[in-house]
Amino acid sequence: MRLENRVVFITGGGRGIGREIALSVAREGADVAVNDIEAAWAAAVAKEIEAMGRRSLAVPGDVTNKAEVERMVQQVVEHFGRIDIFFNNAGIIQATPFLDLSEEEWDRTMAVNAKGVFLCGQAVARQMIKQGKGKIINTSSIASRIGNAYMSAYNASKAAVSSLTKSMALALAPHGITVNALAPGIISTTMWDFLDSRLAQFQNLPPGEPRKRRVQQVPLGREGTPADVARVAVFLASDDADYINGQTINICGGTVMS
Ligand SMILES: NC(=O)c1ccc[n+]([C@@H]2O[C@H](COP(=O)([O-])OP(=O)(O)OC[C@H]3O[C@@H](n4cnc5c(N)ncnc54)[C@H](O)[C@@H]3O)[C@@H](O)[C@H]2O)c1
Repeated sequence: MRLENRVVFITGGGRGIGREIALSVAREGADVAVNDIEAAWAAAVAKEIEAMGRRSLAVPGDVTNKAEVERMVQQVVEHFGRIDIFFNNAGIIQATPFLDLSEEEWDRTMAVNAKGVFLCGQAVARQMIKQGKGKIINTSSIASRIGNAYMSAYNASKAAVSSLTKSMALALAPHGITVNALAPGIISTTMWDFLDSRLAQFQNLPPGEPRKRRVQQVPLGREGTPADVARVAVFLASDDADYINGQTINICGGTVMS
């Protein structure tokens, strides 16, 4: 029980990696506030956590909306009294060839993946400063470290997350708050189902082939699972990670080594 009685807040916790992190921290003894833009998904995960004997709260809302973000943080603090650990996990994928990428697609990708991390991080940090400690864990990607002809907005948004992680870590260290980021590789979630179908279309390949080719580039020879990411998330949230700050940690089977 590495997180006994800690209060965790996670965005985009309604499915995929976020859901797995929410359940994993609850298994380690945490109470969990679950945000998602899809209210029913957040509610379902909150129910699963309550069934495990922990306290939980569904906090539906859009991470790109400052007023909603402030309302959500206030709601979590009113319910649980504090926020010990915050996962900035909500994200969307974008896949369009660079020359066809629309301004709207660029703006929405940057809004959810980068601005959302800023807005939520700032609102939660203000609460953690009052507490004198806290841990913030952003979700970047190995996409932050490489280019991609079909995912230029996504990759740029994740590079922004890794950069913001360093700036937040510097700004918040004097307050006893650490800020780190997870950088998953290919993880088997709905996000990759969508990505594969888009890449197959652009590259004129049969469905499943783009994903297969990516997996062939993973030295460990397999896709990651949400549980592979959640185990690292729990570690970063625990006291064992007290001296880790401003880092982006790859969880990618060795696909990227920097
Ligand atoms: N799956 C991968 O291979 C992979 C790799 C690297 C990084 N990531 C990152 O991990 C995170 C989770 O991805 P996933 O694979 O679980 O994807 P997913 O699509 O399964 O889950 C993302 C969740 O975020 C929610 N969400 C989207 N926009 C939101 C908003 N504006 N406000 C609140 N919630 C919102 C969605 O409703 C969904 O429940 C994302 O940040 C993603 O970029 C995923």
